[in-house]
Amino acid sequence: MSLNDPVDPVVAAEPQVERDAELAVEPAPLLAAEGIPSRFACFVTGTDTEIGKTLVSCAILHTLVAGGLRACGMKPVAAGATLRDGELHNEDADQLIACSNVHLPGNITTPYMLRDACAPHIAAARDGVAIEAVPIIAAYAEVLAASDAVVVEGVGGFRVPFSDDFDSAQMAEQFNLPVILVVGLRLGCLNHALLTIEAIVRRDLVLAGWVVNEIDPDMAFADDNVAALAARIPAPMLGRIPYLEHATAAEAAKFIDLAGLPGWPSRRD
Ligand SMILES: Nc1ncnc2c1ncn2[C@@H]1O[C@H](COP(=O)(O)OP(=O)(O)OP(=O)(O)O)[C@@H](O)[C@H]1O
Ligand SMILES: [Mg+2]
Repeated sequence: MSLNDPVDPVVAAEPQVERDAELAVEPAPLLAAEGIPSRFACFVTGTDTEIGKTLVSCAILHTLVAGGLRACGMKPVAAGATLRDGELHNEDADQLIACSNVHLPGNITTPYMLRDACAPHIAAARDGVAIEAVPIIAAYAEVLAASDAVVVEGVGGFRVPFSDDFDSAQMAEQFNLPVILVVGLRLGCLNHALLTIEAIVRRDLVLAGWVVNEIDPDMAFADDNVAALAARIPAPMLGRIPYLEHATAAEAAKFIDLAGLPGWPSRRD
């Protein structure tokens, strides 16, 4: 099997899955219109690091949980962890957990929790760890089995290296999920967005939509930049999050419309 062949999450799943799922279940989910529990999953990437991937991932989880679904966030590779109560914690992973209502062991939602807050391939080398696809997809299978909806947050930008022969884009290929691109609205974002989209499309991944996130409150010609993006991105704009005084998931969720996403659960009225 080559690295680019997606791993089947069902095959990769461990038998423990169903027991974990039962333990993790909280409220009963609303069913999709057809009466089948919805399965929504997406991969959230961004134009760079620190541009709002976690905020948008948390906003999506918030909306899913508010809709009554069993939703779980996943940050497969996290760089920058501190020891608390005998466990390694990463800020992004903690935020995703806080916005999820399915809670699984930390090594499932973040199979690679790296200590140093630096480029993942450096952090992995310093921890003596090799980041590989199979444990990530096996963990995803467990998350999927326990949830109606999964939001996977990528790492940094789309092509961050993990090792000499594995990177973040290959991880996205393995997930093979609809991709949501967060564009951090600042100077340079047009180039970053268009290059990222080229890389997504080249891998035959579906760009399901993009979110503008106003991380720079003083961005000049913000509207013109958004118009330039809209004219060039071949996918729907899902929303535009203003610069928020309190950048919470609930607040950000007000500015995103997810209803058109593939697999987005519909309520049974
Ligand atoms: N619209 C916004 N208004 C105000 N602050 C924001 C906004 N979006 C993001 N932030 C803040 O910017 C910082 C970076 O956001 P976030 O952690 O979501 O980025 P990220 O892309 O996930 O970063 P990383 O690459 O580290 O995962 C956070 O402190 C967040 O609260
Ligand atoms: Mg993040």
